[in-house]
Amino acid sequence: MATASSEPIHLPPTLRLPRIVQGIGFFAARHAVAAALERRYGSAFTVNLPVFGHTLVISDPNLVKDLFSTSRDLIGRARYTFGGVIGPGSTFALDGDAHRERRRLLMPPFHGKRMRSYEDIFEEEVMLEIANWPEGREFETLWPMRRITLGAILRAVFGAEGPALDELRGLLPPAVTLGSRIALLPSVVRRDVGPWSPRGRFLRYRRRIDAVIDSLIADARADPAFEERSDMLALLLQARYENGESISDRHISDELLTFLTAGHETTASALAWTVERLRRHPQLLSRLTDEVDAGGSELRQATIWEVLRTRPVLDGALRGTKTRIRLGEWVVPEGYTVMVSVVLAHSSEESFPDAMSFNPDRFVGAIPDTYAWIPFGGGVYRCIGAAFANMEMDVTVRTLLREFRFGTTVAPGERRHNRGVAMVPGRHGRAVVYRRTGPASSNAGSPPVVDHVTT
Ligand code: HEM
Repeated sequence: MATASSEPIHLPPTLRLPRIVQGIGFFAARHAVAAALERRYGSAFTVNLPVFGHTLVISDPNLVKDLFSTSRDLIGRARYTFGGVIGPGSTFALDGDAHRERRRLLMPPFHGKRMRSYEDIFEEEVMLEIANWPEGREFETLWPMRRITLGAILRAVFGAEGPALDELRGLLPPAVTLGSRIALLPSVVRRDVGPWSPRGRFLRYRRRIDAVIDSLIADARADPAFEERSDMLALLLQARYENGESISDRHISDELLTFLTAGHETTASALAWTVERLRRHPQLLSRLTDEVDAGGSELRQATIWEVLRTRPVLDGALRGTKTRIRLGEWVVPEGYTVMVSVVLAHSSEESFPDAMSFNPDRFVGAIPDTYAWIPFGGGVYRCIGAAFANMEMDVTVRTLLREFRFGTTVAPGERRHNRGVAMVPGRHGRAVVYRRTGPASSNAGSPPVVDHVTT
């Protein structure tokens, strides 16, 4: 991408409907609408949406590469971001140099090597959760997965257990659900207009969450072993900007809330989708169980990539143009939103032959392409928790397959349901499980088939 200040604006075709009608269509059935627009106009088109304004939608890997490799001087945050809900200290709210500096400080807690140190936490959280899973009876896995991922991120962030973390376990899920709904509201409705308005209710949660986080910050500072601690809170408290200053407590609170918010519902939804997909692919399920028993991981990693391809949790990455820019053949005006459609990119037949089929083998021995496979976005704003999420999914799936046989089903796949920001399985990833009694029991017959369950 390059500046194009002297070039005439040149945009792909647009949908000629009132903004409000486009908005209703996009938010009610955005996959179907995006797919229909792509069939009609090709892989680039423009829409005019409430909240986001005039928006160029792209999915072609060449354009995606152009966009993701561009400098922060030309493109930045979209007009509206989740940072507006969380607060000015959140990575989501930062742009330009402030964003670059913050990302540098966030490297140590999210460094690939550190992920290994979280492995035990992940497994412990899974074992704790599955202790009471019912056998032979269908149940929704989305909520159990949310408890696992919330427990995991809380422990990775704060390093310890205790009553304060228990309080956060109760406060965060409703706050995150409310916050992600507010994120998509038009600005008039997003304001705090009284204690019972969505924003007013969110702020009440926020005050309680802040009080708990403040007490955890104070405890960390008072900890005699503070210097040796390696949890995210301790690393952020120890971090220093280039000018030697530390991150303010208010910003640390915003940032921790960012990790807790961005890190638990997304990963839980991806895990519920994994269960939903595996139950419908018995052969894959049994190959994966055999692989776990043999200590392997290649097919499991490929399966995680394929779940994130076919059922991406977030369906777009957003940017805003800071100046008039050229993007491939298009010349985009300043102040425009550019949306990379993850769903359209992932359903491209050119990038993924037989794209509609769920086939993890496509990734066995092949790493996904950086600009065609984009569940974590890309470029300087790429998801900072991608390695964390991948490791967490890997450990969770490995542990589940080690402990359970899953009942398979011939029921149609669960539909996508929009829970504000995240796309979740419409029936919340239902599963039927049977405890494995002995080692390597997966080979002792195929898992039971639960046929077309309707409960
Ligand atoms: C399967 C799980 C997850 C998915 C699908 C996901 C997806 C995404 C996407 C699409 C973005 C926007 C990227 C862009 O605009 O290019 C993002 C940003 C972000 N994610 Fe994740 N995420 C996941 C898990 C996590 C976890 C576990 C954490 C933290 C512990 C996290 C923290 C963040 C943060 C802080 C950002 C903002 C990055 C920035 O703007 O610089 N995410 N994520």
